[in-house]
Amino acid sequence: MNSKTRLDKLIGSLGYCSRKEVASLIREGIITHTENLPLKPDTKVSHEHILFEKEPLDPPQGMVILMNKPVGYVCSHDDGEGRLVYDLLPERWRRRDPKISTVGRLDKDTSGLLLLTDDGALLHRLTSPKHHVSKIYEATLDRPLKGDEEAIFASGALMLNGEKTPCIPAHLTVIDETHATLEIVEGRYHQVRRMFAAVGNHVVSLHRSSFGDLTLGDLEVGEYRILTQKEIPN
Ligand code: URA
Repeated sequence: MNSKTRLDKLIGSLGYCSRKEVASLIREGIITHTENLPLKPDTKVSHEHILFEKEPLDPPQGMVILMNKPVGYVCSHDDGEGRLVYDLLPERWRRRDPKISTVGRLDKDTSGLLLLTDDGALLHRLTSPKHHVSKIYEATLDRPLKGDEEAIFASGALMLNGEKTPCIPAHLTVIDETHATLEIVEGRYHQVRRMFAAVGNHVVSLHRSSFGDLTLGDLEVGEYRILTQKEIPN
């Protein structure tokens, strides 16, 4: 981001402190300029020229986070729902404006690749039903596969309970009797679990291993990283 913003607005929007607190943090030498230029709360600054406790600022608006979500964390902003995926990010990121949200959701009991962003347009695009991005899930099943699931999932005719339109064809790859990967391009509520339920099975564990071209690489469970501009899906 090369554009200039008022310092208090910039620092406040990144969640470091309130806009009012900026003046005292400048006086205390906590907020400084990379070239030691004098600062006031209303000084117009570029993001890359400001340091907080001698460190570069967190990424500006437009960041996309790739997280390896652990089981037991909820994709919600509501503290009443237990441990939240946002708890795995720096605390001040909760105060960012615009706020960070998950790109779609993974269930509490599902692990794996989760994207989060503060880019509303990107979020809207990636979660739109028209946007058919491929997602691969690794499922462990309660019962042995019967053999007809691959054809049923690929048929484009599978109806989920309570829905009016069939699932778009999905690609099942059988690993063994109780393990398979499923590639889907939609993001219906609990879709993978409901697809297996529709063929008389039950998913006992579920992990998302890819989203479009993105994979987790060596990202440990519970860790995250910021995507580079080139990696951001479009
Ligand atoms: N399908 C599910 O059933 N759960 C998820 O978290 C994602 C896809």
